[in-house]
Order: sequence, then structure tokens, then C-alpha cells
Amino acid sequence: MVKYCKFYRECKSKAVYRIPHSNLALCKDHFLANVEKRVQKLIQKSHIIRREGKNKILIALSGGKDSQVLLSIMKKSYPENIELHGLYIELGISDENYSKDSGIIAQSLCDKLNIPFYKIDVKLLNGFNIDDIHILKQIIEKNKQISKDDQIRGECSYCGLLKRYHINKFAVDNDFSVVLTGHNLTDEATSLVNNFFNIDIGFLKKPGYFIESKTKNLVSRLKPLFYISEEEIAMYAYLSNIEHLPTECPYSAQAPNIKIKKTLLEIEQYRRGNMISLLRRYYKVMQPEIKNASSAEKHLDRICALCGSPTFTKICHFCKTTENILETLKKYNI
Ligand code: AMP
Ligand code: FES
Ligand code: ZN
Ligand code: ZN
Repeated sequence: MVKYCKFYRECKSKAVYRIPHSNLALCKDHFLANVEKRVQKLIQKSHIIRREGKNKILIALSGGKDSQVLLSIMKKSYPENIELHGLYIELGISDENYSKDSGIIAQSLCDKLNIPFYKIDVKLLNGFNIDDIHILKQIIEKNKQISKDDQIRGECSYCGLLKRYHINKFAVDNDFSVVLTGHNLTDEATSLVNNFFNIDIGFLKKPGYFIESKTKNLVSRLKPLFYISEEEIAMYAYLSNIEHLPTECPYSAQAPNIKIKKTLLEIEQYRRGNMISLLRRYYKVMQPEIKNASSAEKHLDRICALCGSPTFTKICHFCKTTENILETLKKYNI
């Protein structure tokens, strides 16, 4: 039986998608509008767009569906009063041509939408990239006699550090008022559950979709797709014909979160809306309690002696890690 759009009574179009958490069947136009409205609501709630003055906003682009959809929605929703720019970080993942293809796709959408595009290469800036980390990891894992000092984490962990650092630095150096990233509901619910399991208070007391910064050299960050699921984003990209890289990072299959995500998606089958209500209720009810109960907030009140980033210690975590990696790479002649 053909299902019709349930957006008020006047819409007589055929439904193409059922919003998972509300069970509302919508036609193409009303589905796209529904997603856009939910994104605009978070933008409005975070007050990142000022009525007066320049609204210079940076979107971190990975070439994947999330940030490609975010860029399209931002351009469509705010055609006039904001200045959007796109940043792609070349991390040097040559497996499956991953980084190269991602950069081309991110740039192509910026060109199509007339948005200034920037690309920075971590190998040029830091002397190594994720391919180098991958080779180092393979050598270390093969050689069981290696000392404890040379232990190495997963590729995605270094990748996350490089991305966070360079996105912020680029935004600070170029005077952006806020950075937007494409983190989605499914990934955020997965991280929350994972950090619950680890009782990681540092994570659990952090705010959800908007991290407003009052710290020098640290830009505010907003995740406008925080309440939009991965499935809805894929549907939005498909219905709007938004080009994106369909593959995931080749190293992410080994990430510990992947099984938690699978389980959450299974739970969603019989507890519809579980993920969205988990995030909504956690950040409304529990996060403020944990924030208040945990010991006094440590402030990033020092400036890294090497790079000028805000830090708790004399040298920031990024500079310490990159220095360590460079030394280890040298030791193994990579
Ligand atoms: P991920 O950490 O891969 O889940 O990506 C989360 C968000 O970080 C993406 O939606 C982008 O906004 C941003 N991002 C990921 N990879 C890159 C990249 N190579 N360059 C710039 N931003 C990125
Ligand atoms: Fe970048 Fe996995 S190496 S996300
Ligand atoms: Zn409709
Ligand atoms: Zn530093």
C-alpha cells in the first residue's frame, strides 16, 4: 500500500522516508525541510550567528556524507548573512586512495557552492602523516621485544589529535568566530556510551553539541548534526544528490567503538528513538550534575612554549606527542 506524507493534511505526496525517532512518514521535500529545520534550531540555540558584524564560519570537511551535507544545508539556510569557508586536512592515508579522493570531493562541493576552500597537509606541517604512523605501528607490533616507550596507539587516535589541533589552529590564525563539524547523532551516542563504560569523567562533564570557548587561541566548536542520525544524513545526501566519499577510514574498522555502535543500532530497532533520547536526556539532566559534582574545572590558562596553544602544562599534549612520534620514526628509519 502506498504511504502518503504525514506533514499536515495538505501534502498529498508519496512518503519516501520515515523519521526513525518520531515514526513520521514524509515526502522528499518535507523530509529535507525537516532535517534543515532541526539543524537551524541548533544554530539558533547556540547564537553563533550575530546580527551585526562579520560571521566568519569555518566548516571542517572530510569528504564524507556528514560534512558534505552540513555544508550544503548551511549554504542553503544562510545564503547571505554568513561567510562560509571550508577546510580539508590532508592526513596522508594512501590505502584505497582514501585521503586523495576525500580532498577532491570536499573541494568539488566547495567549488560548486562557491565557497572558499583550503587544504593543509600534516606531513608538511609536522613531518609525518598517518601512512608513517601505520608503517611504524606495523613494525612495532611485529617486534615483540620493543621497549614500553615505543608502544603505539591506533592510527585513528593520532588522526583525531592532528585534526583537532590543525582545525583549531587554522581557525585561530584566520580569525574565524566558530568551527562547525559534521559529527552526527549515531557517532555521538556511541562515544557517550563508550565513555560511560570507561567512566571517563573528563568526557562526561563536557557539553554536548556546542563547546563555547572563552579561552585565548581556542575557537568555539559547534556540531549542528548532533541530533541527526547517520541514516537520516545518508538519506538527505541521496535525495539531494550530494556527492561524498562512501567509504570509511580504512583503519576505523579496528576502532573499539565500532561494536558499541552496532549494538546501539540493534537496540534502536526495538527501542525507536533510543539514541536521540539518550543524548537529549543526558545533556539536559545528567551532564550538568556531573559537571557540578566533579572537582573544580581545570582551566587551560597556560600557553604552550612551543606552539602557543592553550594548555595545562608548559608544553601542550600535541607538541609532546608529535615530538615523540618524530623521534620514534627516526629510530626506526622511517
Ligand atoms: P570523524 O572524526 O572522521 O568522525 O569526523 C568528524 C568530523 O570531523 C567530520 O564531520 C568533519 O567535520 C571533521 N573532519 C574529519 N576529517 C577531516 C579532515 N580530513 N579535514 C577536515 N575536517 C575533518
Ligand atoms: Fe583518520 Fe582513522 S585514521 S579517522
Ligand atoms: Zn509532504
Ligand atoms: Zn604546543
